[in-house]
Amino acid sequence: MYRTITAFIFCLIISSTARADEGMWLPIHIKNLLLYENMQELGLKLSAEEIYSVNQSSLKDAIVSLGGFCTGEVISDQGLLLTNHHCAYDAIQSHSTVENDLLENGFFAKSRADELPNEGLYVRFLVRMEDVTEQFNKVLSDTLTAEERQAFISQMTQEVEKQASEATGYEASVKSFFAGNEFYLFLYETYRDIRLVGAPPESIGKFGGDTDNWMWPRHTGDFSMFRIYTGPDGKPAEYSEDNIPLKPRHHLPISLEGVEEGDFAMVFGFPGSTDRYLTSYGVQFALDITNPTRVKIRDKRLSILKKDMDADEALRIKYASKYAQVSNYWKYFIGQSQGLKNLNIVEKKQSIEQDFRDWTAQQPQQRSQYDTVLSVMEKSYDQLRKYQESYLYLSEAVFGTEILPFAYQFSRLSSVLENESASPEESQAVVATLREATEEHFKDYSASTDQKVFAALLEMYAQDVPADQLPAIFERVQKKYKSNYSKWAAQVFENSVFSSQEETKAFLDDPSLKVLEKDPAYQAMESFMDNYFEQIAPMLRSTYGDLESNNRLFVAGLREMNPDQQYYPDANSTLRLTYGSVQSYEPKDGVLFQHLTTLEGVAEKRDPNNMEFEVPDKLMELYQTKDYGPYGMDGEMPVCFITNNDITGGNSGSPVINAQGQLIGTAFDGNWEAMSGDIAFEDELQRCINVDIRYTLFIIDKFAGANHLIEEMTIVEPQEEPELEPESVTEETEEER
Ligand code: ARG
Repeated sequence: MYRTITAFIFCLIISSTARADEGMWLPIHIKNLLLYENMQELGLKLSAEEIYSVNQSSLKDAIVSLGGFCTGEVISDQGLLLTNHHCAYDAIQSHSTVENDLLENGFFAKSRADELPNEGLYVRFLVRMEDVTEQFNKVLSDTLTAEERQAFISQMTQEVEKQASEATGYEASVKSFFAGNEFYLFLYETYRDIRLVGAPPESIGKFGGDTDNWMWPRHTGDFSMFRIYTGPDGKPAEYSEDNIPLKPRHHLPISLEGVEEGDFAMVFGFPGSTDRYLTSYGVQFALDITNPTRVKIRDKRLSILKKDMDADEALRIKYASKYAQVSNYWKYFIGQSQGLKNLNIVEKKQSIEQDFRDWTAQQPQQRSQYDTVLSVMEKSYDQLRKYQESYLYLSEAVFGTEILPFAYQFSRLSSVLENESASPEESQAVVATLREATEEHFKDYSASTDQKVFAALLEMYAQDVPADQLPAIFERVQKKYKSNYSKWAAQVFENSVFSSQEETKAFLDDPSLKVLEKDPAYQAMESFMDNYFEQIAPMLRSTYGDLESNNRLFVAGLREMNPDQQYYPDANSTLRLTYGSVQSYEPKDGVLFQHLTTLEGVAEKRDPNNMEFEVPDKLMELYQTKDYGPYGMDGEMPVCFITNNDITGGNSGSPVINAQGQLIGTAFDGNWEAMSGDIAFEDELQRCINVDIRYTLFIIDKFAGANHLIEEMTIVEPQEEPELEPESVTEETEEER
């Protein structure tokens, strides 16, 4: 009994100091908001200036947004960049063929000359950021209508960005925070020559596949490496053979010390989006409509893709990245709904809203501003319910086919062809972009697979969207094809120029408005878009407008209501810091999930008959001989670990950094029990899943033999326990005796 009580008290102390730290903080706020004190309490040894500084090099100078969808960190003074395997997946796939499948075999460049350029990929460093809210508030009065406010914001944004980029030479971007209550300016430097340096085979980098995705315990070596190149002058430059590796302002030293429960951990990165201020009505709406519809359409699309991919090796490679993208969020939406229900998020939100109502009721002078906020939002969601399927089917089904969005790009051509005063240069420019888009589109394309997706998804559209909202094209399908969607699809794919690269190219050689307007894919897409812009969007627009302005007031009100609470803004692809510690968790009663996994678990999960769980022979050999080099620990090879950092999509590839500012891992996923985390953070359950840096180094060195890459990194060897002076040892031992 006594034991239990002390254990209980001990737990309380631990959990109040090493508290789960919700929050994705803006780096300029580290010094205020008590964040820095909290981090020190958790064990941080760096100064605030060493984390984010405008005047000296700091941690933030080693962090990049990778292509706007992931995060990467610089890990050598020669521009070597570490990120996730799944962030490089598209790049790896695009360099793959049946004969030379880099997804299957992995790839490690033997020399700089072997590093593979990736057109279109860029990285962005944050130079600095600034709060410009006051500047905005000068023109944003409370009496503006939603449209007026929006117009002022766009205008101000343009002005401030223009001024800042002219004054500094950097790219400038203003974003709104706290649902439109605050505004910040960001200055960036963008590099566009980014080459693939290394990636393990999928059987390591995506080990566990969709089955293990979004789950702990995990055994995935989800890492890859790029190198950032600059012009010979060290400045950003387009790809050129003459370019040289970036000399970064900072690169992260790497720790081999390993992680223990309770260790301080912070994650710096570019989280994409969260909805932490969503109302109960919004949550219910996601549960009832958005999530099930998205899952249903994706289910169908994935099953068609999978069947064709399983039957054809070349197709499997072509569609690998497209498939992974669709399935990642297919599983996400399933998990999110489950989490929202299991964790009673609607009720939790309702209780916040009740407090808000009580508070507004006590604030007579403010009632006019806040008291209708929640009821308007409730009504708005009711209104949205009527039209949301149309919107979802457009985005998931119409844009889930490949031919229709591709055909839609040609509407730009129709504008110049129609416009008699358009100059030949103008139309040539449009044709040139479309030629590029055509190359890109057909590089990884199967018309026969797309035809099946087209037939199936559009049939679902016709069934699930209210009849009075259907675009006119469906009437023709009913009349001409007796609603036989396969027949319709066959006709479209046979007769459209957009189902074949040769025909599209021939069309671009001699573009004609008549041909375009008669093209069945183009016609179908016109019908979908006309329907959306004329019938659906006007209804949605005013509702979204109401939601937006009331949500802004709701967030402002909450902050006014709880002046002592530290609020953080929703993620919006800007640089954020989240801090916490290495933490195990209890996924359910009686089960403890430890903070670390090892190679033993890879061997346990190994299944040569299941592609998702194949293990390379070489890795099994290293496991059997325990040949772990300096990366192992007590005869074991760590693989992944978890922390309670608050991350989301876009953070993938982010560095996990220890108290000394050294790299200990790479964040890559969230966990199943808290999939509702983007809407409500769960202290007890929510974890950030990371590849242990020691596993990454072990794979590079021992598995791939790419020791030359290890050599350019700054590796900090584990510190020996400080040896005590001989005399004091004797003294202590004597005392103990
Ligand atoms: N769930 C991870 C994320 O969104 C991606 C993991 C990729 N792995 C996979 N099996 N699809 O960040």
